[in-house]
Parts: sequence; structure tokens; C-alpha cells
Amino acid sequence: MTATLFPASGPAPVPAPAPQAHRPQPGQGRGSYWITTFGCQMNKADSERMAGILEAMGYREATAELEADLVLYNTCTIRDNAEQKVYSYLGRQAQRKRANPHLTLVVAGCVAQQEGESLLRRVPELDLVMGPQHANRLAVLLEQVEQGQQVVATGEHHILEDITTARRDSQVCGWVNVIYGCNERCTYCVVPSVRGQEQSRLPEAIKLEMEGLAERGFREITLLGQNIDAYGRDLPGITPEGRRRHTLTDLLHHVHDVAGIERIRFATSHPRYFTERLIDACAALPKVCEHFHIPFQSGDDAVLKAMARGYTVDRYRRIIERIRERMPDASISADVIVAFPGETDAQYQRTLDLIEEIGFDQVNTAAYSPRPNTPAAGWPDQLPETVKVERLHELNALVEAKARERSARYADRREQILVEGTNPKDPAQVMGRTRTNRLTFFPGQRPDGTTIQPGELVTVRIDQVRAFSLSGTLA
Ligand code: SAH
Ligand code: SF4
Ligand code: F3S
Repeated sequence: MTATLFPASGPAPVPAPAPQAHRPQPGQGRGSYWITTFGCQMNKADSERMAGILEAMGYREATAELEADLVLYNTCTIRDNAEQKVYSYLGRQAQRKRANPHLTLVVAGCVAQQEGESLLRRVPELDLVMGPQHANRLAVLLEQVEQGQQVVATGEHHILEDITTARRDSQVCGWVNVIYGCNERCTYCVVPSVRGQEQSRLPEAIKLEMEGLAERGFREITLLGQNIDAYGRDLPGITPEGRRRHTLTDLLHHVHDVAGIERIRFATSHPRYFTERLIDACAALPKVCEHFHIPFQSGDDAVLKAMARGYTVDRYRRIIERIRERMPDASISADVIVAFPGETDAQYQRTLDLIEEIGFDQVNTAAYSPRPNTPAAGWPDQLPETVKVERLHELNALVEAKARERSARYADRREQILVEGTNPKDPAQVMGRTRTNRLTFFPGQRPDGTTIQPGELVTVRIDQVRAFSLSGTLA
């Protein structure tokens, strides 16, 4: 599922249980594995590749976490509460391992990268600590574990193209990494230190992966990068007009004709690098959906400057205006942080004003959380917890109200829905998304008694609108 773009403490959109576990499947071989994934879509994509590697090694998926022979936590450290959650999960498994020494315990992802060896001191039961750049090396690392070593893999690493087939959670919507890492230095953010330098994949490799997914029945692809507008800036080549040869815009053109893929999305966009050329391409290319996830983080120029975001509120406004000129129905989502060090009431108010003015379809909200090795964490003007809680609370109410207003435009409309599966809360219903990414539920049976299948594109008449989802009937 492509539910939330990033973990948010803010208004929960639709059913998106935070840690997502792989579903059990019968099989034979080496033993059973369990993966729990925290954090963003980058981590989800890495988990799918690691699940593919484990299955290629002969592991099968466990039916329950507490029965698995190998437990892997793919972790997130974007905010302190994300990191603490991992420690409570680990405590449980460490206890299990003391009773069952054959259990293999792996911590992957961003907490692993941040903490490295100190994780072993904190949880001596661990067998393997591996940063995100090592995800594709899981098999080699586990072989070292099998030889009796306790392994830490957190060195800077050139990410190799993966040759194993990822084990995907969805059979309709897939994620494809196009650029790993981040070269920005937003003063609050831990991502550059845990994900390393930008590494773009070659357009040919990206297209090949999309073709493979299309052959397996996938219909929608989300291209992924922490700062996807940076795609290609580490690849060589200049055009005769003096432009970079590889940009996100060129990539969209390059992959657009993959047969079988009906919808293409991309995330996350950075307002500093977002171009008009990209907006024009989105408007011109029919498979590229009219949904833009462009975090603005704050509605105040001085706060943006302290965050080192590299744009002004006015630039952000102009981007949204331009998108709406070219694609009037486009949906816009974003991320925002409140209670950044030194944020005054007036500055916070400007964030609310911007949300009021733009009218976002969805916003992931968070209160600032100081992170290790980031400049803002050491600033003296940290705000008290009470201010954080108050601002977040008020902000969330506004975000929901605006989302509800935005949802209203769908009432009585006919929308094209790509069906993803059954509504987990009502087996008689199926669910899918509009092109603009609104989750939509409707009865799964046609008048002739046949059942609508995942992967079908259908037209649905919308008759109920809620803040973050819609319901309707087959048109
Ligand atoms: N690359 C994306 C963001 C990735 S992190 C971008 O540049 O927009 C996802 C979101 O987590 C961020 O957009 C931000 O809103 C939030 N976030 C990151 N660091 C945070 C921190 N220290 N405290 C609170 N929220 C944070
Ligand atoms: Fe973090 Fe900024 Fe990079 Fe986004 S662009 S991942 S917020 S450093
Ligand atoms: Fe979290 Fe790492 Fe993603 S810190 S948000 S899992 S890049």
C-alpha cells in the first residue's frame, strides 16, 4: 500500500498501521523469517528487497513474529519516538533469544546506521546491525553470522544493483528507488547522516525494474527518493543546450511507455529544486498522476532559513500556483514541522496561514524532535514540550478541516480508481485510489455477480466524502 508518504504523528489518513509486517506464506527451507518495517517508503522498499533475498536463501515467511527463526527490524530514527519504539520491540526479542539461542536477530535501517556498534553494547543479543546502504548485501552478511560472528555493517557503501527479485507486499502498486541518500543539510534532519551521499540509479536499470514489475501484474509505480528532484545530478552527461542529461523530468519521459504500467507517481519533491519543466512533463504525460507531495516544513521565511531549506514561502506559493494552472484538479500534500527551535507564535501562525491559503489535500505533521549529529539539536532556544503538544494539536485540527474541504470536490463525481485489494474493515468492499491519491472504498461485486479484482481500473461514482477517504459505487 502507498498509504502515507512518511511517518507522521499528525492526522492519520486511512488505515495505515505504522509498523507493517510481511504476510505469512507457506514454504520450506532454512527456517522462517519475520520483518517489521518502521519509517518511510524508502525503508519499505528496502524491506521488500531484503525479504526477496531471504526467500532466495531458502527462508520462508513466519506465521507469527514470536515464532520466527530470524527477526529483522528495519528501523527509523527520524524522530525520537520512532527510535524508542525500536528499543521496546528489541527488548522483547532479546528476552526470547536468551531462551532460544538459535534465534537470529537483525537490526537494519536508520537506527542501525546511527548507532552502529553501540547497539551491540545496548542489546548484546543482536547478531547483525546493518545500515540502509547494506540492504542488498544481506545474504553475505548473514553468512558471516552463520560462521558465528556478530556483524556490524555501517560503512559508506556504493549500492550495487540488486539481482534478486524483491518480495512485494502489494501486487498492484510498487515502489522503485531512483536515488538513494540525500546531499541536503536541513538543520533538523538525520537522514543525510544515516542514508549517505546521493546515488542515482541509471535510467535503464529503473526502466528494466519497471518492466519486470509490469510483467508480474503491477499497474502503478511510485518512483522514490528523499529528494527526488536531485535525481541524476551525480550522473555524468550534459546536453547540447547545456542542461544536465539526467533529470527527473527526463526520467519520467524515459519510463513513461512501459507497457502495463497505468500510473506513475514520484516522491518526495523538494521546493528548492522543483522545476517548471517538471510541471510541464507531469501535465503532458498521461500516466503521471496529478498528485504532488511537496513538503514546505514552515510557513515563515526566517524559520525556513534556519532550517537551511533554500527557498522562501513565496517560491513555494508560485510552485503550487503553476501546478494548479496546468492541472487544476491536482492534489497537493506536504510535510510540516512545528515548534522548531526559536519558532515564535507569529512564525507558527504563518504556518497555519499557509495551510489555510493553499488548502492541502493532506499534510503530515510533526513537532520538532532534536536528533543526534544535527545542528538544530544543539541550539539553545528549544521549545518546551507543552508548546509542541499545543501547536501540533491545533495544526492537526486545521489540516483535517482543510482536507475535508478538499474532499468535498469529489462529491457526485466519477473517478477512475485503481483497485488495490479488499477493504480490511469490510470484506464486501474493495479499495483503491483516485489518480489524486484519495483512498476510495466501494462494493466489490458487479451487478452480474462477478468480483472486482486487484489491478482493475474502474469508474466509481463518489457518494460519500470524508477528510481522508471517499466511498462510492461502481458507475
Ligand atoms: N526528504 C524529505 C523529508 C524526509 S523526512 C524532504 O526534504 O521534505 C520526512 C519528514 O519528517 C520531513 O519532511 C519532516 O517534516 C519530518 N522531520 C524530519 N526531521 C524531523 C525532526 N527532527 N523533527 C520533526 N520532524 C522531522
Ligand atoms: Fe532531510 Fe532535508 Fe534531505 Fe529531506 S532534503 S531528507 S529533510 S536533509
Ligand atoms: Fe526514517 Fe530513515 Fe526513512 S530515518 S523516515 S526510515 S530515511
